[in-house]
Amino acid sequence: MVTLSADRARYDRATAHLDAPLAIVDLEAFDANAADLVRRAAGKPIRVASKSVRCRALLERALRLDGFQGIMSFTLAESLWLARAGFDDILLAYPSADRAGYAELAADPKLAAAVTVLLDDPAQLDLVDGARAGGGEEIRVCLELDTALHLLGGRVRIGARRSPLRTPDALAAFAELVQRRPGFRVVGLMAYEGHVAGVGDSIPGRPLRSRMIQVMQNRARAELAQRRSETVRALRRVVDLEFVNGGGTGSVESTVAEDAITEVAAGSGLYVPRLFDNYRSFQGRPAALFAQPVVRRPGVGVVAVLGGGYPASARPGPTARPSPTCRRGCATTRRRARARCRPRCWARPRTTC
Ligand SMILES: Cc1ncc(COP(=O)(O)O)c(C=O)c1O
Repeated sequence: MVTLSADRARYDRATAHLDAPLAIVDLEAFDANAADLVRRAAGKPIRVASKSVRCRALLERALRLDGFQGIMSFTLAESLWLARAGFDDILLAYPSADRAGYAELAADPKLAAAVTVLLDDPAQLDLVDGARAGGGEEIRVCLELDTALHLLGGRVRIGARRSPLRTPDALAAFAELVQRRPGFRVVGLMAYEGHVAGVGDSIPGRPLRSRMIQVMQNRARAELAQRRSETVRALRRVVDLEFVNGGGTGSVESTVAEDAITEVAAGSGLYVPRLFDNYRSFQGRPAALFAQPVVRRPGVGVVAVLGGGYPASARPGPTARPSPTCRRGCATTRRRARARCRPRCWARPRTTC
């Protein structure tokens, strides 16, 4: 997607006094994207994923809107920082080995009430207890379900390796173990289908690949919907679940369509990085861009920009590279931006998480 020239002119005017490198967020586009996420969530609350936004003021902006509720955070230190800043519903969506952080959490009733940590292994209970240093607060716990799609009797696995807990029985057994342990309470379940939410199903110039992704995702959605609902049923027999979280920007519609789901996570859909150019289900407005200074013109139609920009946290390679959005036809080569832009080259990140 090429940024409209009117937008580029607006960004140039707004930042004329600044030297690149610089990054901007177009608040008009951000708000439009937020409204579209709320529409897609069809009445279920959106938990905003902080690692995709990485800006507290913008987390606050999203949470002021009807339809957003709570934060999905990335580290324990960040969760405590957010809780101290007044956020009161924080789901730490990744296991942590931060012993000092657990000691703080267990010692402070306000922090312990605001932050829910993610556990999926009995060893993590020992780690938390070993870190308590006398802190007796009850730790709120979210369990994670492995969402990967298994094919050919498990010989092929599609999806990130996250939780070791895959079956309703395994989740229920782990929930009972946590409940029996003094000082812990299971309050939620999270199941993030990254192979659906984070993989575009309409890749320009790749119809066959797009079709294969669509078939895989249909299969994954159906398999997960059933397993997620059975898991929630099994868990509700042993614990009181406050929430069942799933999905991400790319899967909002299909995730919220499941009865078992009480909330959906989304973050990068507020910025709409390049990844989301390849989705059939929605179109957003690029809201996060950065500019690198153009320092050389080694040849006709070729410029060199200084610095690497905003690489994606994905596997390194061409797909993680940001893409210039200056003009139609503008692209990066291995080391140069091919463009007529000057004195700076605007680009969009590939992903923001
Ligand atoms: C657990 C979890 N849920 C949801 C998301 C989706 O985030 P986004 O909407 O930014 O794609 C992520 C992204 O990495 C995640 O790790």
